[in-house]
Amino acid sequence: MKSFGLFVGLLLAVGIRAAPSKDCEHNVKEAVTPPRGWSKVKPAPADHLIELRIGLPQPKFAELEQHLYEISDPFHERYGAHLSKEEVEDLIAPHEESVSAVDEWLADYGFASHELSRSPAGDWVKVRVPVSLAEDMLKTEYHVWQHEETGDAIVRTTTYSLPVHLHGHIDVVQPTTTFARLRGMKATYHYADEQDFIVDIAQPTIPIPSALNGQVNASCNASITPTCLRELYNIGNYTPQAADVNKIAATGYLDQYANFEDFHDFFAKYVPEATNATFDVIYINNGTNNQSLAAAGVEANLDTQYAFGLSYPTPATFYTTGGSPPFIPDDTTPDNTNEPYADWLAYILSDPSPPQTISTSYGDNEQTVPYSYATRVCKELAQLSARGVSLIFSSGDSGVGDGDSDPATQQCFTNNGLNETKFIPAFPASCPYVTTVGATWYIPEVTYYISGGGFSNYFARPWYQELAVPHYIKNLNTTYEGLYNASGRAYPDVAAQGQFFWIFDGGDNSQIGGTSAAAPTVGGIVSLLNDARLANGLPALGFLNPLIYAVGAILPDAFNDIVGGSNPGCGTEGFTAEVGWDPVTGFGTPNFGKLLDIALGNLGGLLEF
Ligand SMILES: *[C@@H]1O[C@H](CO)[C@@H](O)[C@H](O)[C@H]1NC(C)=O
Ligand SMILES: *[C@@H]1O[C@H](CO)[C@@H](O)[C@H](O)[C@H]1NC(C)=O
Ligand SMILES: *[C@@H]1O[C@H](CO)[C@@H](O)[C@H](O)[C@H]1NC(C)=O
Ligand SMILES: *[C@@H]1O[C@H](CO)[C@@H](O)[C@H](O)[C@H]1NC(C)=O
Ligand SMILES: *[C@@H]1O[C@H](CO)[C@@H](O)[C@H](O)[C@H]1NC(C)=O
Ligand SMILES: *[C@@H]1O[C@H](CO)[C@@H](O)[C@H](O)[C@H]1NC(C)=O
Ligand SMILES: *[C@@H]1O[C@H](CO)[C@@H](O)[C@H](O)[C@H]1NC(C)=O
Ligand SMILES: *[C@@H]1O[C@H](CO)[C@@H](O)[C@H](O)[C@H]1NC(C)=O
Repeated sequence: MKSFGLFVGLLLAVGIRAAPSKDCEHNVKEAVTPPRGWSKVKPAPADHLIELRIGLPQPKFAELEQHLYEISDPFHERYGAHLSKEEVEDLIAPHEESVSAVDEWLADYGFASHELSRSPAGDWVKVRVPVSLAEDMLKTEYHVWQHEETGDAIVRTTTYSLPVHLHGHIDVVQPTTTFARLRGMKATYHYADEQDFIVDIAQPTIPIPSALNGQVNASCNASITPTCLRELYNIGNYTPQAADVNKIAATGYLDQYANFEDFHDFFAKYVPEATNATFDVIYINNGTNNQSLAAAGVEANLDTQYAFGLSYPTPATFYTTGGSPPFIPDDTTPDNTNEPYADWLAYILSDPSPPQTISTSYGDNEQTVPYSYATRVCKELAQLSARGVSLIFSSGDSGVGDGDSDPATQQCFTNNGLNETKFIPAFPASCPYVTTVGATWYIPEVTYYISGGGFSNYFARPWYQELAVPHYIKNLNTTYEGLYNASGRAYPDVAAQGQFFWIFDGGDNSQIGGTSAAAPTVGGIVSLLNDARLANGLPALGFLNPLIYAVGAILPDAFNDIVGGSNPGCGTEGFTAEVGWDPVTGFGTPNFGKLLDIALGNLGGLLEF
C-alpha cells in the first residue's frame, strides 16, 4: 500500500509539473455580499502589497476539541490537564499532501518552499504579494472599499477562486472577503463630575444579600469603582498569592493605547495600596502605545484599569496589535493587512506560556466575518483554551441588534444575499470556545438593556449548553421564531456591571460603560480564581464554560441571577432575562466567594450528580 501511495504521489507530482496548477480550472471558493455601509471606491492599486494568509485544513481538529472539552469538564478525570504548545501544534498540523499541494501552487508563482513564512504547526502559510499577483492567483479583482460612516477604507474582494484540486487543501485565504471592523464595544462615554452623585447619608449602604457583608455602598448605584465591585461581587480583601506564576492580559486593537499616567492616576485614587503598579506592553505587528495623553484610548484605559485593578499584584500585560488603522486609499504602504485578530493569535499561540486569563472587548457582527475565516479564528481560540487560557470576550452593546442604528427603529438585515430580517449575533462572542460577558447596571443589579445576546448562525450549540439553552428556548414558545437560530451557540455565558465605571482617560476622571466594562471585570475576577488555584498547586481553570454551565445548573447561587428586563434591537424588545440562564445576562453576575470555594475543589454536591 505504501509504495502504491508513493507511486500515485509521484504521478500526481509529475502531472502537476506538466500542467502548472495556476493554469488549472478554478472554482469559486467563497463569495460574500459586502455588509451594509460599505461601498466600492475604485480598483485596488496593482502594486499595493498584501500579506496573503493561506489556511490549510486541520484534519485532527475534532480530536483537539475533544481534548479541550475533557480537560475543561469538571466531572472528567482529566479536568485541568491542559495541553502543551507542542501537543496543540501536533493536533492542528495539516496533512503532508495539503502542504505539498499548496507549496507546488505557490512555486508556480515563484515562491520557493523555503521562502514561505509558516505558523509553527504549518497550518498557515503567509506570502506577501502585490494585488496584481493575488488577483491572478485567486482569479479575482480587489477593490478599495470604504465604510460610509467612519471613512475606514480597506482592500477587499467579494469572491475568490482556487484551482479545483486545491479546494480540499485550503480552508481559507485572507485578506479577501472579510469586511469586519472589530469595533470596541463601549456603549456610552460621558464625562461626569463625582460631585454629581449625592450619596444618601441616611442610606449609606444598600442591602444585597450576596454581597460582602450583605451591603454595598449606596454610591455604587451610579458610580462604579474597584471597591464597589469588590463589595458587590463578594471579593472582599482577597489578595493574590501566586503572582510569581499567574498572569493576566488585556488585548488592544484599533490604535487604542493604554496610558501609564492615566493608569497611575486611577490606581492612586481607586487602588491606593497599589499606587505604583504598572503593566508590560507587548507590541504585535507594529502595534504602538503612544503615551501622549491626547492619544490615550478610552477602551484600552478601561480594560487595563479594571482587569489589572481587580487582579493586582498579578503581573499584567497589554497587547497592542497593529494592522489597523485601515488602509488609506492612496497610500501603498506594505504593512497594513488589517487582519488584527490573526496577527494577535499568531503571536499568542507562539508564546510558550501565555497569560492564564485574557480579556478582550472587541468584536463585530458575525455576518461581517466570512464563515471560513470566523471558523479558523474560533479554532485558534480553541487552541488557546486547550492550553489552559481563560478567554473572556464582551457580548456587544446592541442587544439582539446589529449596532448600526437606533436599536428601537433599526431593522436588522442579513447580508447573505437574501436581505432577510434577523437578529444579528456578534463574533467572537459567538465562538463556543470562549466565555462571553453581558452587562447589568444599578444596585440591586438589573439587566442593562444594551447587553448583547443571542444565537450564532455559524457555530452549533455546544454540549455544555444542552440543558440550559433548550430550557430557555422551550419557554420562548414561538416568540421570535425565525429571527434567531435555535440550534446555534447561545451567549452570553455570564454578566457583570456595565455602566458608570470611573476611569482616568487622557488625564480626565470620567465615566464609561458598555459590555466593554463588564468583560475586564469578569477577567479580573477569573484571574483571582486562577490565582487561588495556582497558589494551591492546582492547574489554572482554563476554558470556563463547561464549569460555568455545571455550576449554573447545580450551584446556582454562585452567580447572582438577573431576572427581568430585556435586550431590545431590530425593532423588537429582544430576549427577556429569566430565572437561570438567558441570552441577556447568561447565568448572571459572579459571587467570588462562592466561586472561590468551587475553584478550590469544594464542589458542594457538584460531584454527586
Ligand atoms: C461610600 O462611597 C463614598 C463616596 O464614594 C465614600 O466617600 C465612602 O467612603 C464610601 N464608604 C464605604 C463604606 O465604602
Ligand atoms: C439605583 O438606581 C436606580 C435607577 O435610578 C433606581 O431605580 C434604584 O432604586 C436605585 N437603587 C437604590 C437602592 O436606591
Ligand atoms: C510609590 O512610589 C513613590 C515614589 O517612589 C513612593 O514615594 C511611594 O511610597 C510609593 N507608593 C506605594 C503605595 O508604594
Ligand atoms: C514594521 O514596520 C517596519 C518599518 O516600518 C517594517 O519594515 C516591517 O515590515 C513592519 N513589520 C510588520 C510585521 O508589519
Ligand atoms: C502621539 O499622539 C499625539 C497626539 O495624538 C500625536 O500628536 C503624535 O504625533 C503621536 N506620536 C507618534 C509617534 O505617533
Ligand atoms: C434590504 O431591504 C430593505 C427593506 O426592504 C431595504 O431598505 C434595503 O435597501 C435592502 N438592502 C439590500 C442590500 O438590498
Ligand atoms: C443555524 O445554525 C446551524 C448550526 O450552527 C447552522 O448549521 C445553520 O446554517 C444556521 N442557520 C442559518 C439560517 O444561519
Ligand atoms: C410560553 O408558554 C408558557 C405556557 O403557556 C407560558 O407560561 C410562557 O409565559 C410563554 N412564554 C412566552 C415568552 O410567551
